[in-house]
Amino acid sequence: MKRMLIAGNWKMHKTLKEAEELASDIFNWVETNRPKSDVAVCPPFPFLHTISKIIAGTKIYLGAQNCYHEPEGAFTGEVSPPMLVSVGCKFVIIGHSERRTYFSENDQLINAKIQAALRFNLSPIFCIGETLQERQENRTYEIVERQIKIGLNNISIEQIRNIVIAYEPVWAIGTGVSANTEQIDEAHRFIRKLLINTFGPECNDTLILYGGSLNSKNAKEILSLPDVNGGLIGKASLDSKEFTKIIEYAEQSI
Ligand code: 13P
Repeated sequence: MKRMLIAGNWKMHKTLKEAEELASDIFNWVETNRPKSDVAVCPPFPFLHTISKIIAGTKIYLGAQNCYHEPEGAFTGEVSPPMLVSVGCKFVIIGHSERRTYFSENDQLINAKIQAALRFNLSPIFCIGETLQERQENRTYEIVERQIKIGLNNISIEQIRNIVIAYEPVWAIGTGVSANTEQIDEAHRFIRKLLINTFGPECNDTLILYGGSLNSKNAKEILSLPDVNGGLIGKASLDSKEFTKIIEYAEQSI
């Protein structure tokens, strides 16, 4: 059976009250519809604890959008993996292109964060993907391979079971134009093969999510691709109707 994970990356959106409402609406839908797919919400840091209580006891998992690679210390403004675990997180998004672009995160730092997250039993949702220029220069697979090789350096076969990959072509994020199904199918097959060649056949079970303008209009087609195990969703995850519709399409692809 195909495993699916539908994860909402709320980015820097919503106030506490709005976040509570969104989480409650998703909770109600999941309680009523009991999907087979796993569902995750990744709100901003200040809302994590409150939302963990709203979704407690359901199949909705909590994820953070970032973490620091040290467990504690004098690192003003940073948040550590054990802190995230202590407020109920199972997932943490690492290496998102917005962090790479606006906060200068490189592959080495991302590797350190992945290692730190795993050390404290957090599952990284590890984001990779090429820019428009890189795609136009036919360097997509070179870039994705570099991101995976360095990002997952020194990760063991046991640890790879706890890692989720999110293929998010940078040019498709927040643009309203997703990659087309052929591009997604090809990239996900490439990533699957690379993981299997690097870590072994266990990676047939690795969750590889697609992200980048995924919405209720294109979800059916994208989520039905064989190597797509769900989505990491930005804008469309901010509206419960839109988000839960995507979960419905995930259910159809299982
Ligand atoms: P959008 O769905 O808004 O394009 O964002 C995708 C994304 O960056 C998820 O991490």
